[in-house]
Amino acid sequence: MKIIVLGPQGSGKGTHSSKLSNVLNVPHISSGDILRDNVSKQTELGIKAKEYMDKGDLVPDEIVIQLMKKRFEESDCNDGFILDGFPRTLEQAKELDKIAEIDIVLYLEIPEWLAIERLGNRVVCKNCKEIYNLKSVRPKQDGICDECGGELYQREDETPEAIKQRLNEYKEKTEPLIEYYKNKGILKTFFCDKDNVPVEENFQKILSIVRS
Ligand code: AP5
Ligand code: MG
Repeated sequence: MKIIVLGPQGSGKGTHSSKLSNVLNVPHISSGDILRDNVSKQTELGIKAKEYMDKGDLVPDEIVIQLMKKRFEESDCNDGFILDGFPRTLEQAKELDKIAEIDIVLYLEIPEWLAIERLGNRVVCKNCKEIYNLKSVRPKQDGICDECGGELYQREDETPEAIKQRLNEYKEKTEPLIEYYKNKGILKTFFCDKDNVPVEENFQKILSIVRS
C-alpha cells in the first residue's frame, strides 16, 4: 500500500507514520529525516538544505525530489511505503505522480495552537528517531530513548521563529495539496483538536480510517 501522510507541523505525521509502517509492514520514509541525515553527514545537498531548514523554509524542490527519487529506488519500496513530509508542494506532487500510484492520502488536521503546544514539548532520539513529548509521551528515563537507549534531543528548527515560519510555509505551499488530492478522490481526513488524547487512541482511529 502506498500512503502519503499530510498535515501541518506537529500534527503527528512522524508519530503515526512510524506506527502505520509497523502494522502495514512497509517502510516509513520521512523527507525530514532524510534531509537531517544529509545535514549531519555534510553531503553536498545536506549543506545546501541546512540554510533553508534552520529558518523553517521549505528546501527547494529540486534538492528534495533528487533525494526522494534515490530513496524510491531502494528495493524495500517495491510493496509500498508510508510517505511522511513528501510531497509538500504541487511540483513535488506532480513529480510523484510520474513514479508512483498513491492509494491513500491521510490528512492529519489539527488547529495551530495544538501544533505549537506539541512542538514546544517534543524530543526525538538522535539514533532511531523515535518521537517523544515531555508532556504527553514521556520517555521512561529522562533524556534516554526507551527503544534503543539513544540520546534524546530537541530539533534545531524548534525555535519559536522557525516554528512560525514552518507553519506559514505549510499554509502557503502545502495546503493546496489537500484540494489536489481531494479532487483525485483519495483524501481521508483525521481531525484532532484535543491536547490530552493518548497517541494510541488516535492511532486506532487512524487505522480504521486507513482500512475503511
Ligand atoms: P519535517 O521533519 O517533515 O518536519 P515538519 O513537517 O515540520 O513536521 P514535524 O516533524 O515537526 O511534525 P510531525 O507532524 O511529524 O509531528 P510529530 O509526529 O513529531 O521537516 C523539517 C524541515 O525539512 C522542513 O521545515 C523543511 O525545511 C524540510 N523538508 C522536509 N520535507 C520537505 C519537502 N518535501 N519539501 C521541502 N522541504 C522539506 O508529533 C509532534 C509531537 O506531538 C510529538 O512530540 C508527539 O509525541 C506529540 N503528540 C502528543 N500527543 C499526540 C497525539 N495524540 N498524536 C500524535 N502526536 C502526539
Ligand atoms: Mg515529523
